[in-house]
Order: sequence, then C-alpha cells, then structure tokens
Amino acid sequence: MRFFIPLLLLVAAALARNIDDEVHHKQNRFKDRDHLHIGADAPPMMKLAADGQLRAVEDSEYWNEKCQQELKDQLAVTPIVSQAKNVIFFLADGTGVATLTAARLLKGLRTGMYEQERMAWDLFPYSSLIKTYNTNNQVTDSAASATAYLNGVKGNQATIGVDANVQRGDCQAMNVPEYRTQSLSKDFQDENKSAGIVTMSRVTDASPAGTYGHTADRNWESDSDINDDGEDTELCDDLAEQLVLNEPGSKFKVILGGGRQKFLPEGVDDPEEEDQTGRRNDGKNLIDAWLEGSSSMGNATYVWHKDDLLSFDAASTNYLLGLFDYKDMSYAIDEDASNPSLEEMTRAAIAVLQKDSNGYFLFVEGALIDKANHDNEASSALEEAVEFDKAVAAAVEMTDESDTLIIVTADHSQPMTINGYPALHSDIRGVAGVSDVDDIPYLALIYTSGPGYREQTDGVRPDPTEEGYEDPHYVFAAAVPREASTHNGEDVILYARGPHAHLFTGNHENAYITHAIRYAACVGDGLNFCDEKVKV
Ligand SMILES: *[C@@H]1O[C@H](CO)[C@@H](O)[C@H](O)[C@H]1NC(C)=O
Ligand SMILES: *[C@@H]1O[C@H](CO)[C@@H](O)[C@H](O)[C@H]1NC(C)=O
Ligand SMILES: [Zn+2]
Repeated sequence: MRFFIPLLLLVAAALARNIDDEVHHKQNRFKDRDHLHIGADAPPMMKLAADGQLRAVEDSEYWNEKCQQELKDQLAVTPIVSQAKNVIFFLADGTGVATLTAARLLKGLRTGMYEQERMAWDLFPYSSLIKTYNTNNQVTDSAASATAYLNGVKGNQATIGVDANVQRGDCQAMNVPEYRTQSLSKDFQDENKSAGIVTMSRVTDASPAGTYGHTADRNWESDSDINDDGEDTELCDDLAEQLVLNEPGSKFKVILGGGRQKFLPEGVDDPEEEDQTGRRNDGKNLIDAWLEGSSSMGNATYVWHKDDLLSFDAASTNYLLGLFDYKDMSYAIDEDASNPSLEEMTRAAIAVLQKDSNGYFLFVEGALIDKANHDNEASSALEEAVEFDKAVAAAVEMTDESDTLIIVTADHSQPMTINGYPALHSDIRGVAGVSDVDDIPYLALIYTSGPGYREQTDGVRPDPTEEGYEDPHYVFAAAVPREASTHNGEDVILYARGPHAHLFTGNHENAYITHAIRYAACVGDGLNFCDEKVKV
C-alpha cells in the first residue's frame, strides 16, 4: 500500500501533465490578461473508473486510503527511550515555515510529487514550535539564538556564548568566567566524545561560533575586526583565534565551511581569490596553527578545494579542516567549482566523526538560506533549502535511528510569505494571481521587508511579469524598503528523530533544546537520562 499510493500519484501526475503544461503556457501569456485565469483553480485530475465513467483521481476513496495509511504510520510511532550516542543538529538559518513549505513545493515540482512531496524532516516522527526571542530583543539575530540553542542560556543580541550580563561590544565582560556559557560541543568533549561543525558561511559566522565561541560582538571574527572597532585585541580573543587555539574548538575533529580571510595574515595570498590576502593584523596564520595543533593529536588534513574533500581518506584522517572560500561559500545557483555542497561536507564530516566509538556531536548549518532571504532572492533561498534537505537525507542514510538523535530547526524566521492562490502543481516561484484592485499580476512569494521594495510610478504597482522573475537571482517584492530584510519573530519549527526525540513536542524556548539534548545524550549539567536510569 505504501508503494501503491506514490505510484498512483505518478500515473495521475502524468495524466495531468497536459493540464499542467496548459497552466504554464497560460502563465507565460499574462499580457493577454482578459483571457487569463491566473490563479484559477486547476481542473481536477481524472481517472477512468471501473464503471467506465471519468471520475476525479483524488476522490473520497483516494483521501480515505491515504490518510488511513498516515494514521497507521502515526500509531506505529513509539518513543525511543535510550541514550543518544550521537547528536546531529541541523540548523536552517533564517528559515521560517513559509520557506520550508515553498522549498518543498519546488522539490515536488521537480520530482512530480508536487504538493505531496516530503522533505527529509517531514518524515521525522516528532516536532515542536520554538520561541526565539532573546534577553533584549523580541526578534533575535543568529548570535543570540545560537547562544540559546547550543548553550542552553539566552543572551543579548549579537553576543555569542555569554549570558545577559554581557552587552554588545563589552570586551571586558566577555572574559568574566561566570558570564560565559558552555556549549554542547564542550559537553560532548568532556565525555570523551567528538565534535564537529559544517556550514555554508564563514566558520566564524554567528551560528557556527555558538558551538565554540565567547564574544561580546559577533563581528569580531578576526583581530582586524576588533581593531576596526577600536577595541583591545590583547584583551579580547577573536573568533578565529578562539576556534583554533581554545577549547572546545581546538579539539574539533571536523571544521568545514568558508572564511579563509579570518585565518590568514595580511600579505599572505589567498590560494583562490586573486589579489586577496588574509585579513589578520597579528601575523598569525591560523591554518598553519591548526595543522600544528591537530597533528600533535592525530592525522590532520587541511583542504580548500572540493576535489580534495571528495578524495580525502576518512579512514586515516582524525582531524579535518576545510575552508572552501575566502568569505562565505557560494550559492548553489552560482556553481562555484571549488565549493563542495552541504551534502558533500555533511557526508565527509560524518565519515570522520563516526569513527569515534564514544559518539559525537555534529552541527550542520544551511547558512545561505538566510542570506538569500535577506536579499529577497526567494528562488535562491529555496534552492539552498533544497540543498539543506539533501544534507539531512544524507545524515539519515548514514546513521541509525536507534542511537543518533537528529534535530532540524531554524534560529529565526525571515519575512517571506506565500500568497494565494497559485493553481495546484504550479511553480511556487511564479505568478499566484492578478490583483482584483490594480489588475496587475502578483507573485506567490513576497517579503514584508528588504531591498525588493519597489517605488510606484504614477501610482502604478510594477508588474513582476515584466521584470524577469525567472532569473534565479531575481529580487522579489518587499513591502518595507530596507537594505536587507529583517529577521522575523514568529516561532520556528523543530523536527526530531532518534533517542528522546519525543522531548520535542509542544512549545519550547530555544534554550530548552540544549537541555533536552544534554538529557538525551547524558552529557553536561542538569537532568540526565543515564543518571535517572541508575536511580530507578
Ligand atoms: C576520558 O579519557 C581520559 C583519557 O583516556 C580519561 O582519563 C577520562 O577518565 C575519560 N573521561 C570520561 C568522562 O570518560
Ligand atoms: C594516520 O595516517 C597513516 C598514514 O596514512 C595511517 O597509517 C595511520 O593508521 C593513521 N592513523 C590513524 C590514527 O588513523
Ligand atoms: Zn540573518
């Protein structure tokens, strides 16, 4: 039965292709709007019934059968009450539910599963809503959010790994030991387990820095950033320095992402970027320092090109550093030859980490979803979310649900919305309808803030169909002009599978996530599943 339904769908989809083509054809002809029903309901898919009559494919029988199966699957879900040996934390940066839904529709358009497509996380048995406000703002940035979900304590906007006693830019306060929080990666290392990070942004960017950093300002990624702010680099360690020289970062088994400029000194040429050298003022080459430090603990490999990541030998590598770009890594749509995909990095990371029989903590960030959303480039954001889905699917494939807790969540939302009423099976990046007020088409995706704001000419709203919205870098419309979109403040969703995934239901603080992981994995302070088991 489970196989029958998708098969039926494929057949139905094939039957519907003509209708679908017709809809697309119509959407390319909006100039002739009078004859158009953009956003009109698609005609139903039809099947030949046993009695020779044409009937709707998706009739009562269809939905009853499908949802009975869904109910049986749900009834079969049982909590896995055992210690989580491994934890993989997937973070979709700046990804609200609308972005997830739209990305699923884009994937479904390509597979022919359309609206019934499922992302890797849609198959996880548990989910929860997560509150993301921080200690001084209702709408969080990635730094304060990372402090919460990776350290179990909410902090102030733009600060990382420090509690609410540290204000942004307070270099002295960030060094006070009592104000510093402890990250999950340190908790794991304290139990002789491994830790690693993977991101599409600079490895010193705010979200990954939540796994190892303590800073009063997320922008202090290299010493030159601190100098630019007129602060004392002797007093305050930058994030790249903390990652390479301080625990827990110095003991990470895997560090993969971008941001070479934060690791190389001025005057040292970047291997890839012409006429670019490092940005460090202190003369430190932190890539060399990493190689030296890690080589003293085992076999250490540094790579900066995708080809070298795809050919490295995980079996003989104990420590892996990959810095694939001078700044952030490139968008999937830009096809940078030196950049591995998020899936490729995730596979490499798990291959190294799973050699630790004690277990591991891996943080994987789909960082560019947020960045594309900030630019109102919705199509690119959706491609990044589809890439994120492939990485999650790879982790599911490479691990065992009985010993690995996988979490998929976001640090905050972005102001992208899905407007009504695009026809069934239509491309979510396209036209949703024609306004009944100004008679001009509008797209399904729109932002409430960002660079996509359009001035009206003579009170007329610009027609998106005359702007080349099919371009993958097209800037979608926004209601409020801003250089970059704001983050959004509604709750984000969290999906979980594996041991103690059932701790993630209902509504929770983002800082709760750390506490639940510590409990499930028997690491760190606070309640702990293994302690409780002993007591019983
Ligand atoms: C971790 O390993 C070290 C060295 O092998 C050992 O001394 C220590 O007791 C271990 N700690 C835990 C929590 O297993
Ligand atoms: C380190 O690499 C060497 C050479 O490839 C290999 O023989 C050795 O087993 C590796 N050591 C570990 C701990 O993996
Ligand atoms: Zn952001």
